[in-house]
Amino acid sequence: MKTEKINSGAMENAGGKTTPVLSVKNLTYAYPKNKIALEDISLDIYPGEKVAVVGPNGAGKTTLFLHMNSTIKSKGHIFINGKDVADMNPSQRVKEVGIMFADPDNQLFMPTVFDDVAFGPLNLGLTPEEVKQRVEEAMEMTGITDLKMNVPHHLSLGQKKKVVLASVISMRPKVIILDEPTANLDPKSKRDVLEIVNKLNAEGMTIIISTHDVNLLSELADKVYVLNKKIIETGTPREIFSNPSLLEENNLEASDIFKFFQLLTTIGFDCDDLPLSFDEAVNEIYRQIKEGGGHIHLHTHKHVPEKHD
Ligand SMILES: Nc1ncnc2c1ncn2[C@@H]1O[C@H](COP(=O)(O)OP(=O)(O)OP(=O)(O)O)[C@@H](O)[C@H]1O
Ligand SMILES: [Mg+2]
Repeated sequence: MKTEKINSGAMENAGGKTTPVLSVKNLTYAYPKNKIALEDISLDIYPGEKVAVVGPNGAGKTTLFLHMNSTIKSKGHIFINGKDVADMNPSQRVKEVGIMFADPDNQLFMPTVFDDVAFGPLNLGLTPEEVKQRVEEAMEMTGITDLKMNVPHHLSLGQKKKVVLASVISMRPKVIILDEPTANLDPKSKRDVLEIVNKLNAEGMTIIISTHDVNLLSELADKVYVLNKKIIETGTPREIFSNPSLLEENNLEASDIFKFFQLLTTIGFDCDDLPLSFDEAVNEIYRQIKEGGGHIHLHTHKHVPEKHD
């Protein structure tokens, strides 16, 4: 298997030059009177990384995220820029890490969308002009400007998710955690979330996502952690998709395009790296047509029947 570059930041970090923006150290957790949900989790996430946590239902993804922003306190296990998140007060913490939970109803509580998006920045002690600017920017980015005077609880699920995303963005935290950000969104809104994630990441924000949307995985993340109570594996989306037993054991699948091109290889389609997304597939096909002088060449073997006397 070809080893890929995860991202330039991550490679520099391998040399130990940069400190992780978020570290989980030996985190084990069980809910009261319940079986263990997380077992000895350790991971380092570096500034500017875009990582996904994937795994079956009940694997512990949300539980891990609840620790990362100290909703579940676990002193001595989660560090943001070297500081124990359990020791931060809420106003310090929200500047460091913003989180969007899978269920938006737990995060919306103001009478209007504008107020919900403005709530965090107002509590940072910014001037009213600065707050207004941040709120308008976040609403514009998430495409909810038209909803600004609406009552959040009367919005659709997808609209509510966008309001929560805007309220996270308006805080401009260093790390953004998104728990299933594309679930229940229409196809256009999924693409919008992808664009927002990539824009925020290009601006330097560190992004941590959980998702069951394997078709979007390669665009949502450069690096993937497979979690199933423990960290089972870490790799690029391609490395994860190329490991059938890992996928099967953890209720995962490769993206549809990757599986389709795996199938094509059985009828002679030849390419070094199977495409992970539709865009990559289109680029690969164009490349091959160009190189093949207007054709795609299949590598087939002719089976000549043996002659019998
Ligand atoms: N509040 C709670 N009290 C008790 N047990 C819980 C609680 N929340 C989650 N659990 C249990 O902890 C385990 C991990 O759940 P968690 O919600 O973190 O999984 P997940 O990976 O986010 O799953 P999904 O993909 O379904 O969102 C599961 O066994 C779940 O039943
Ligand atoms: Mg979850």
